[in-house]
Amino acid sequence: MGILDAEVSVATHLSSTVKAEAGAALWERFQQVRSTSLHLIEPLSEEDAMLQSMPDASPAKWHLAHTTWFFETFILADRLDGYRIFDPAYRLLFNSYYKSLGGHPLRQQRGLFSRPPFSSVLRYRRHVEEGIGRLLAQSPAAETLELVELGINHEQQHQELLLTDILHAFWSQPLRPAYAAPEGCWQPKHAAPHRASSITESITQSITQQANQRRWVAHPGGTVEIGATSHGFAFDNERPRHAVLLLPHRLAWRLTTNAEYLEFINDQGYQRPELWLSDGWDTVCREGWQAPLYWEKTEENWIEFGLHGMNPLNPEAPVCHVSYFEADAFARWRHARLPLESEWESAAQPRAIAGNFLESRALEARPAFASAAAGSVDVSNSPKNAAEEIAMEGRAAEETQMFGDLWEWTASAYLAYPHFRTAAGAVGEYNGKFMCNQFVLRGGSLATPASHIRASYRNFFPPHARWQFTGIRLADDG
Ligand SMILES: [Fe+2]
Repeated sequence: MGILDAEVSVATHLSSTVKAEAGAALWERFQQVRSTSLHLIEPLSEEDAMLQSMPDASPAKWHLAHTTWFFETFILADRLDGYRIFDPAYRLLFNSYYKSLGGHPLRQQRGLFSRPPFSSVLRYRRHVEEGIGRLLAQSPAAETLELVELGINHEQQHQELLLTDILHAFWSQPLRPAYAAPEGCWQPKHAAPHRASSITESITQSITQQANQRRWVAHPGGTVEIGATSHGFAFDNERPRHAVLLLPHRLAWRLTTNAEYLEFINDQGYQRPELWLSDGWDTVCREGWQAPLYWEKTEENWIEFGLHGMNPLNPEAPVCHVSYFEADAFARWRHARLPLESEWESAAQPRAIAGNFLESRALEARPAFASAAAGSVDVSNSPKNAAEEIAMEGRAAEETQMFGDLWEWTASAYLAYPHFRTAAGAVGEYNGKFMCNQFVLRGGSLATPASHIRASYRNFFPPHARWQFTGIRLADDG
């Protein structure tokens, strides 16, 4: 063996070792994410798992099957020698929207899929998991590892959708069952039955307290970079990283609360067309919106439906289940605006990714200062620039709610970044073709797995959508 041959041999060995280690790490992550999906359906009956309460939502059973279909269709079918397709009919049945694969059922029909039975979907999952295990044990090519990582992140996206879809399904039926009891979770301050007057009183007190806590983080403006670097996993819509010019602006220190949103409602916010975009006002009139989705007014007070069922509104918790139209109208009423996604990302980049995620098992958005006494962080009302914020990590990161709790509507249309390119083949349909008529949301929510979120992450929904865990962070021009 010549010296060159020896070098090639060492390089080959190192490369296969690295690939084996990468495969082992990915296998561990794959198993963890797959088991989380099964954990999420534990509170559901098979009948619950069939519910589809509107075309935008999908049954839990479909989510379990479709995430499995993704691994089989995009990875195992072409990349694992000797792999047996579990059932050829599933290729069409559990395709969501990938047109180049030859077709898929109408989205609104997913609630009709009583066949295959739930047990077959679980066997399908185990069959595909075994296949992924065999594939990862073979030190697959880097491209295959990247597809497995994509499949893992795809399943994490569907975990959040599974929760938002079952929430809508449970809210849509007369008994309005709770997905989960609050035991073991963070206890809502007003979970216990209250006299009506005590809640009104506490909301009034809360408004006063919160007025004192309306703090802003200022940015002096300048050129910043946003978007994912070429290292590590990110969706294609987060790339390429590029420069953006920001003008001086400020972002609210925390999310808008229920009490603050109630001020908007009580000031006839839903009855004043001058506060709304034209499409938003048409939607308010057509749908009869008077409050966020899942809010109901009793004789004296507001109550809201969540994964813990119907509960009195917590005035200190962030307002949830608002559309872009509502977020925009609220901001206009406050003489403010929504952040641009570039402003949001620039503020988020130096922060630790900490917050109220799926792993906290709270299953509801928390007040900004739920885990720490208000004012415990040294932040004055005077403007601070982004650099000064870098030191405030850990607990401070949670208090700002930049990550977790609720997805934050931005004023940015969901568009391609400069020089954006979709991936080749059917998987290229993942994100790029939706870059029309949607707005970007940032930061993740109470239902987002912590390992799934990043500062550069771009979620997107149409402006009328409000069944996701969506909230409001205000911005202004400084
Ligand atoms: Fe999907």
